[in-house]
Amino acid sequence: MYTTGNRIAWLQGPDASCAKTGPVPPRPWHLVLLGPPGVGKGTQAEKIIAEFGACHLSTGDVFRYAARDTSGQAPSPAMAVALAAMKRGELVSDATVVELVRERIQCLACQYGFLLDGFPRTLEQAHALDAILGAAGRKLDAAINYFAPESLIIERLSGRRVCRQCRTGYHVQNKPPRVSGRCDACDGDLIQRDDDKPEAIRTRLHAYATTCDPVLEFYRRQGLLRKIDASGDPGAVFVHTREVIQKLSPAVPH
Ligand code: AP5
Repeated sequence: MYTTGNRIAWLQGPDASCAKTGPVPPRPWHLVLLGPPGVGKGTQAEKIIAEFGACHLSTGDVFRYAARDTSGQAPSPAMAVALAAMKRGELVSDATVVELVRERIQCLACQYGFLLDGFPRTLEQAHALDAILGAAGRKLDAAINYFAPESLIIERLSGRRVCRQCRTGYHVQNKPPRVSGRCDACDGDLIQRDDDKPEAIRTRLHAYATTCDPVLEFYRRQGLLRKIDASGDPGAVFVHTREVIQKLSPAVPH
């Protein structure tokens, strides 16, 4: 079983040094996880990492980390604009997100591999990722697209709760904590993300619907797209995820 590590270099950016330890997987995977908000990408990412290794590189996590920065420093003007867009459920500008990923190129070049979650979300971001990977000497193994009916997605997003301290995720029905409102791992308060409130959920689903098709087509044309029905429980969805990963062709040199 592999561990994620603290992802500090991903969350804080180029000035932070990676502190990941543990065995390097024999086959470092380079995967993109696609799909609408709340479909379960983060949930599957945890399971993929435990079995196959790699680091979970979520662009949303970078913004959430910046939002709770306790250093007392105000966010940069670009980050302040990004955080306001995120709170409303809107996409952050391509320029800001691409720059954020580009300056974390060491995470994409890492020997442990990566699972990119939440990036790319637009065709422009997909092209930028190709260029960044090229510069890092890496190639994608696959872009895994999770899909589920919208009603299920809304239910998953509305019921999600996260620990204010350690960010562990829960769901009021599907994955409740042992004690209501308290994190099993650290006893922190469980809160609802601002962008999981109804108005922001509508905005996020609309943003996804208007940008997803060209990205899916981009990966389909490259033969990298794999689709997985995410309507089952997390374990059942992971059975399909595992099958997809195991069927991917043996490594081109990574
Ligand atoms: P981001 O953090 O990427 O959010 P998202 O894509 O909206 O995805 P989520 O994290 O909400 O959902 P998920 O699919 O990971 O689901 P999860 O596993 O948590 O982005 C947030 C914002 O940042 C964006 O709106 C935007 O503003 C900005 N941003 C980020 N990247 C950007 C980019 N590239 N360009 C522009 N802007 C960007 O599951 C959800 C819930 O369901 C949980 O409670 C879970 O327990 C439950 N659940 C999961 N799977 C199952 C299952 N199989 N059965 C039952 N319950 C399940």
